[in-house]
Amino acid sequence: MKILVIGSGGREHAIVKQFSHSPSVSEVFVAPGNAGMAKDAQIVPIDVMAFEELAQFAKNNAIDLTFVGPEQPLVAGIVDHFMKHDLRIFGPNKAAAQLEGSKTFAKELMKKYNIPTGAYETFTDVDKAKAYIEKLGAPIVVKADGLAAGKGVVVALTVEEANGAVEDMIGNQLFGESSSSVVIEEFLDGEEISYMSFVHNGQIYPMVISQDHKRAYEGDKGPNTGGMGAYSPVPQIANEVVQLAYDTVVVPTVKAMEQEGTPFTGILYAGLIITKEGPKVIEFNARFGDPETQVVLPRMTSDFGLFMTALLDEKPFDLKWSDREILGVVIASAGYPGDMKKGAKLPDLSVLEEAGLHVFHAGTKVVGENLVANGGRVILVVASEATLKVAQKKVYEGLSKLTWDGLFFRKDIGWRTFQ
Ligand code: AMP
Ligand code: GLY
Repeated sequence: MKILVIGSGGREHAIVKQFSHSPSVSEVFVAPGNAGMAKDAQIVPIDVMAFEELAQFAKNNAIDLTFVGPEQPLVAGIVDHFMKHDLRIFGPNKAAAQLEGSKTFAKELMKKYNIPTGAYETFTDVDKAKAYIEKLGAPIVVKADGLAAGKGVVVALTVEEANGAVEDMIGNQLFGESSSSVVIEEFLDGEEISYMSFVHNGQIYPMVISQDHKRAYEGDKGPNTGGMGAYSPVPQIANEVVQLAYDTVVVPTVKAMEQEGTPFTGILYAGLIITKEGPKVIEFNARFGDPETQVVLPRMTSDFGLFMTALLDEKPFDLKWSDREILGVVIASAGYPGDMKKGAKLPDLSVLEEAGLHVFHAGTKVVGENLVANGGRVILVVASEATLKVAQKKVYEGLSKLTWDGLFFRKDIGWRTFQ
């Protein structure tokens, strides 16, 4: 099989690696990819939003399957475009991608089909939003309705902070069109997990769960980011709870999307908080999580290419996962997720690989002889071991061998499981 992966982050690097390790896969291409992926795939310099160029590339190179990483091309209809060309692609079409692209769409679906989630309302008016905040009280959550790269969420501890977020989003258009409408939501208290499933035509293959650390600083403090580190499994969450999430969230959501006439194909990512009343949805994504993919996908022991073919052909498949425990830490540019300086020079990463760690590249590029930071999240460093404790120790020992000028990372990834 020949595979084309679309995207350029750490998540796509993990997808590329998983395909390149599959005996059924002969060649992997990635568009546009990044400097660090060149060892694992052929880099194709086409932008993720250049649908026609991507489709022509897939045709001319006899690509058997295109796998879409990020949400922007999905929400903009890349799947619809490939389908028109009769090309095989994995991801939701434009209508189904609304599950991620519009928080209001997702919230209304959950309300209609009794899928557990926090109480909420949508507003486009600053004063009405503030009145609702006053009524619910703090802590309370303010979210941009549209896409904001994981940064359009403010968990406000006071009414004043929530009011400020509303003013920024609606009044000052902090996220442009994406925040002209905001969702105000009840604060949910509990452990957070990422529960992802492969979905196609009513078939659901759930993956092993993971936990992301979304806040920028240690102790889960500071602003929300795309994710600063993750691990899988999540031992503090019982299997029964995962089963309950499958029964009350995953299956009903797949059925609801079918009933609404927007059947879902792709990765259904349920972001859940395990409250005292059970799992509740804080968000759906219509694609793999980043950095969750980098700690989940390497645990798949089945041939990824064969599995994808079976899924799309609707043939039964025994999807297998290993007991290895994986923990990964993001190295980010100083200042991320706020104003940051890109361009920090990375140290010699072969030191990490020699120590038995894996490096997934997110925002890296080659300048002259050097590998430099080219984004907020730069690399993710992962260890796969018999236990998370050993994996954590190994990652931090590896990182301490190098200096990280102009970069930073959290030193406590995994802390919730070791309490
Ligand atoms: P989202 O982009 O909706 O996933 O939100 C980003 C992060 O904000 C989540 O991963 C949670 O850590 C936090 N969050 C979002 N919604 C809620 C909520 N209703 N209650 C508590 N925390 C939340
Ligand atoms: N790490 C969270 C996400 O991918 O949305």
